[in-house]
Amino acid sequence: MKQLVVIGNPIKHSLSPIMHNAAIGALKLEKMFHYEKLKVEEKDLKNFVEKIRSGEITGANVTIPYKTTIIKYLDVLTKEADLIGAVNTIYKQNDKVVGHNTDGIGCLEALGERGVETAEKKVVILGAGGAARAIAFAIALNNAKKLVILNRTVSKADELAKSIKNKIGTDVESNGLFAVGEVVKDTDVLINCTSLGMKTVQNKKIHITSTMLSKNITVMDIVYDPPQTKLLEEAKKAGCNTVNGIGMLVYQGAHSFNIWTGRKPPTNVMKNAILWHIKKTKKMKSNIALIGFMGVGKSAVGRSLAEKLDMNFIEIDDLIEKKNGRSILEIFEKEGETRFREMETEVVREVAMTDNAVISCGGGVVLNEINVAMLKENAIVVLLTASSRTIQKRTLNDRTRPLLNTRKRSEKINELLSSRRICYEKAADHIIDTTSLTKKEVTEKVLSTIKGNVLWR
Ligand code: S3P
Repeated sequence: MKQLVVIGNPIKHSLSPIMHNAAIGALKLEKMFHYEKLKVEEKDLKNFVEKIRSGEITGANVTIPYKTTIIKYLDVLTKEADLIGAVNTIYKQNDKVVGHNTDGIGCLEALGERGVETAEKKVVILGAGGAARAIAFAIALNNAKKLVILNRTVSKADELAKSIKNKIGTDVESNGLFAVGEVVKDTDVLINCTSLGMKTVQNKKIHITSTMLSKNITVMDIVYDPPQTKLLEEAKKAGCNTVNGIGMLVYQGAHSFNIWTGRKPPTNVMKNAILWHIKKTKKMKSNIALIGFMGVGKSAVGRSLAEKLDMNFIEIDDLIEKKNGRSILEIFEKEGETRFREMETEVVREVAMTDNAVISCGGGVVLNEINVAMLKENAIVVLLTASSRTIQKRTLNDRTRPLLNTRKRSEKINELLSSRRICYEKAADHIIDTTSLTKKEVTEKVLSTIKGNVLWR
């Protein structure tokens, strides 16, 4: 059995074993490789490197705080690691212990996966530590038009900027973090490489608010725990394209994996393993389901939420109509409500498994507990309510809803509302009364209510 490890201190938080072991499993290499996390004290670093030399350990990832301190114990550095001055991957080649760095390429690939280019663009990097160095060099080598490096300790930003300018010739500026407001005005990409925003240092927030960001900027945070950092929340609010730290974690790991095993790992398996773990441990979901009575605004609010969060919008009733080639009204008339409810459950079953969607549910979806259970697997369920009078007003001239096509419309609405109330409330994770609110206000209320619960891309 070949042993792979990630070392650091602290190391408990690392999700590397989860994704590497998932890749090992997917490639059926369980009998050959195993990946673990290992807490190493600084005084034991030399000893650790000896274990790689002796073959007791086949390969390692290195994380905080050893990315630079480990270098003195290694025999050679690759071109990338030497340029960056930090190591995140160790392996043995021709009897030499080699230090390499895959953070930069990991970041570029995570951006590339989302269609974000850095060549010929202005890129602002926050931080000047190990990860910032790797990313700054990779972006400079990839022909950025201009790089700006901002760091709390300005001298460290200056030093990194100088080193990039000398070695690569890129146009680089440096300054303190305080300059961020001015600098982001005309930038294309902003990447946070500081640990501000990480679970353990959450209180020291980065002072970037939505009003400072224009919607044309792509904002990336390399912090992956939590995946929704304060910075990304602000960026979403501003309508920016956002990229969380999970992609970079996966791609830097995939390059290390390839070096140790000679195999290209399935990055989708690695990413799903991470997403599954985060969702389970943080009680997060990938979708938002809007439930509630006819006329509470599920579709309108759903559309605006999806647009704001860059999620897909799914209307259960639309899918039923498409699948059936008939309108809801016709289905009720020709096949009856019972058949309609069956179709509704079929569609909910399909939709419940998607990711990154805002799902607007027909008013009666919650009448079937199975529908609710399926939705709740991967969605935060938000109940929109409104007073009976408001619902009557909002549905006044609507003839598309078969249940309301009766002469005693207001009685029917009251009757349905009272018989369904318990089902709605039982299914809901959150309840928002829309009675006196505009669409924009409801959207904002949903956004602040679900904060931290929905794992958007
Ligand atoms: C229904 C609500 C409608 C539609 C069908 C049945 C209900 O959807 O699914 O007419 O039972 O409440 P909306 O709530 O989107 O109008």
